[in-house]
Amino acid sequence: MSQTIHTPVLLKAVMAYLKPEPGESYLDLTAGYGGHATAVLARTQLTSAMTLVDRDKTAIAALTSLKRQGAHVIHASFEEASKALHEQGANFDMILADLGVSSLHLDTSSRGFSFAHDGPLDMRMDQTAELSADEIVNKYDQDRLTEILRRYGEEPRARAIAAAIISKRPISSTRQLASVIATQWPGRSKVHPATRSFQAIRIAVNDELGQLERSIPLWLAMLRPGGRLAIISFHSLEDRIVKQAFADVSGDRFDADYRLLAKSPITADDAENVFNPRARSAKLRVLQRK
Ligand SMILES: C[S@@+](CC[C@H](N)C(=O)[O-])C[C@H]1O[C@@H](n2cnc3c(N)ncnc32)[C@H](O)[C@@H]1O
Repeated sequence: MSQTIHTPVLLKAVMAYLKPEPGESYLDLTAGYGGHATAVLARTQLTSAMTLVDRDKTAIAALTSLKRQGAHVIHASFEEASKALHEQGANFDMILADLGVSSLHLDTSSRGFSFAHDGPLDMRMDQTAELSADEIVNKYDQDRLTEILRRYGEEPRARAIAAAIISKRPISSTRQLASVIATQWPGRSKVHPATRSFQAIRIAVNDELGQLERSIPLWLAMLRPGGRLAIISFHSLEDRIVKQAFADVSGDRFDADYRLLAKSPITADDAENVFNPRARSAKLRVLQRK
């Protein structure tokens, strides 16, 4: 279906590790434009055994065709959806979380995720959420802003950038914000000087790391025996959480309930990187319930 809007990353590897079999059940926590889900469905052939979650209503609208075919589609954060599914006693043969934003988020200027396209300071994945980038950029005090830039962007000039932002308030657009940040990084650099700060503000707006940390235990609990959990992360802060959570429950102990299906994270090859630049930073980790 929607491959033209968002190309699913590491699709071959995801399929090789999830190994969908006919009739197996599948939970997709970040269903997006249904790229991974459609490939899984081609093997399982059972839409009624698919649960598709996304917090973005544009993505949910794109899943209408799978919903019509019988998939269970949930518009919620994956933390909320996972809590509800776990409480209902749901369990799955395969669970996938392909974290972060979609290409459509980055390419739609009105969503305010990118400084490549000028837009409002928004960055909400869920358009109904209360907190937006505008509030963080224009209202947070210097300590709070510095902490966000440092913790979620690993930005070495966090304090100076926070001070520059405060001195230029009100800031109303992504390009304006990017140019204020750039004043604190004079000279040339490979990536745009606002990249780390934009990542930080986006993570804070969507509570991305908190959602992940609190949800992984629920995903582990919902795996059936023999079930596979695959998580694709896009930056080191996410990958660290996944790596640690997987290490905590797996390992060589005879009584460990889970085993890692790959010791190191799986990354894209050069061909995929050229064809889909989003894949460059993608890391896939996969775990199986024994
Ligand atoms: C990288 S895209 C997924 C693309 C999808 N795998 C595909 O092949 O089309 C990530 C999606 O996850 C959603 N998302 C990110 N964090 C989420 C969360 N905490 N809860 C629910 N959805 C989330 C985003 O709205 C976005 O649509």
